[in-house]
Formats: sequence, structure tokens, C-alpha cells
Amino acid sequence: MNIYEAIRRDHDIQRDLLDKLVDTSGDTKERTHLFKELRKELTLHANAEERHFYKPLIPTDMMQEHARHGIAEHHEIDELIEQLEKTDMDSSAWLKIAKNLKHKVEHHLEDEELTFFQLSGKVLNDKEKLELATKYNAYMEAHR
Ligand SMILES: [Fe+2]
Ligand SMILES: [Fe+2]
Repeated sequence: MNIYEAIRRDHDIQRDLLDKLVDTSGDTKERTHLFKELRKELTLHANAEERHFYKPLIPTDMMQEHARHGIAEHHEIDELIEQLEKTDMDSSAWLKIAKNLKHKVEHHLEDEELTFFQLSGKVLNDKEKLELATKYNAYMEAHR
């Protein structure tokens, strides 16, 4: 498995959780459970991805701007999670923020899979792509 396969697998977990989350209603066990799962996945993934995918690419001129942009989006995603934590889960406002989060995350994942993957694929060699996946997966497994 290379770094792209590892990241794409976890992106799909996030997409699935987002789809399910916006289908829930009110202050229910299901909504609470899905929100906690999603929060954990998003946070762990952003940390692992910044360490084992973005960071090694930052010294590359071509990738620096993209990596910074991606990290800024991780912060925007964090802020939406914080807003959800502060909002009454039973309110319509909560679902509205959850839908914003879904939209933002889906856009971010697509950006990474289309632009970031393509460009970094020209910078990393096959061995590096495998080594980064090993490190990325080890981080995810240690914290999940
Ligand atoms: Fe990301
Ligand atoms: Fe990602």
C-alpha cells in the first residue's frame, strides 16, 4: 500500500461518516456516536497527514503553497468541529453546521485527491510513497 491508497481509504471512512451524520436528527445516541467517530477520524487523519505527507513535501517549492493551503483547511475544519461542540445538538443550527462541515471536508478531500496527489506524485519516488504509508498507518493504528 502506498501513501495515496492509505489516505484514500481513510478519506472514504470520513465520507461515509459524513453521509450518515447529516442523516441523523436531534440529540440522539446515533448522532452523538457518529459525531464522536467523525471527530476522531478527522483529527487523527489531519495529524498523521501533516506529519507523514505534507511535512516531507513542504521543502519542495512546487508543494509548499499547496501544503500550507491544506493545513489552513485543516484548521477551518477544526473550527467547524468546535462550533458543533458548542451548539445544542437538538437545534436546527447544529445540522446546518454539520452540513457546512460535510461540504468543507468533501471539498478538501477532493482537492487533495485531485491536485495534491498528482503534484506530489512527481516529487516522491515509489520507495518514499511506501515508506510514508507505513509511517502514516502506524500513527493511525497507534491512536485509533
Ligand atoms: Fe487533509
Ligand atoms: Fe486528507
